[in-house]
Amino acid sequence: MNQTNLHKPVLLEESIDYLNVASGNKTVIDATVGLGGHTEAMLERNPELKVIGIDRDAEALRRASQRLEPFAGRFLPFAGTYDQLLEAMNELGISKVDGVLADLGVSSMQLDFPERGFSYSQNAPLDMRMDQSQGITAGELIESSSVSELAFIIKTYGEEKFARLIAKHIAGKKFENSEQLNEVISAVVPKPHKGHPAKRTYQALRIAVNEEMDILERFVPNSIKALAEGGRLVVISYHSLEDSIVKKAIQKASQSSSPVGLPVELEQHRPVLKVLTRGVTRASEQEQIENPRSASARLRAAEKTEDK
Ligand SMILES: C[S@@+](CC[C@H](N)C(=O)[O-])C[C@H]1O[C@@H](n2cnc3c(N)ncnc32)[C@H](O)[C@@H]1O
Repeated sequence: MNQTNLHKPVLLEESIDYLNVASGNKTVIDATVGLGGHTEAMLERNPELKVIGIDRDAEALRRASQRLEPFAGRFLPFAGTYDQLLEAMNELGISKVDGVLADLGVSSMQLDFPERGFSYSQNAPLDMRMDQSQGITAGELIESSSVSELAFIIKTYGEEKFARLIAKHIAGKKFENSEQLNEVISAVVPKPHKGHPAKRTYQALRIAVNEEMDILERFVPNSIKALAEGGRLVVISYHSLEDSIVKKAIQKASQSSSPVGLPVELEQHRPVLKVLTRGVTRASEQEQIENPRSASARLRAAEKTEDK
């Protein structure tokens, strides 16, 4: 399969513009390198640029490294989660970077390979781990959870209104594959429903299995620490839970933390970020037609204003 056909980078031009990396001797972290679409475009445009590419999926990192072989020495892969960006920099002897990009969620490769178990539309074992070397699978999570635990996960991460009903029928049970799980969910969710009845449950299981929200909570503060003054942070989210974490973290860092009534603003209370996007930037109509995955994408960008 041709890798470039596997994943079209979302909001590519907008990301590169906001990162401000088209020229100059700069270093950027692509915190979710995936198949390297965003990274390849950045490396092509700026012959002096270096990119640290992080991914927790060994297969994605292997493919990205292969694709980015022509940029040897300028593409620096790091296997891990994106909240570990300071560790990656430390390992590479880099103290500050000029940009951090995160294009969150799953890649088309993960969805397109049935054996990874991410997709409700293909029959496969219920795995869903992005890093298959550790953690429990979605099947094991269902089997080891109580009704209340699972209802909480499906409601919080899937925003599924029938969470408790679904949890009652699946918690503590062993499912061999997605077909078996879909059958139960389809039978219990009242009709009619918008989209596939299991869609929100799959999203919730994926988020829980990969601890996505906890890692994202740590990502923005760590990115701020990683950036040099004038450096840019760009995050592309695909659902409201992700976007809300990113929005709050950026807002917090872009406001003064001075206690009310303090006559002068002390250095440690000054905001460290300036927001660059008004609200969110969305994919153009043309991009949404060409790449339906971009329809839910929301990009937020900010600039580091203080070197601290
Ligand atoms: C949407 S894809 C990125 C696609 C990439 N921008 C491209 O153009 O090819 C998201 C990638 O982030 C990775 N990922 C998701 N959560 C992660 C995490 N917490 N830490 C590191 N990588 C993560 C996934 O494995 C996936 O490869």
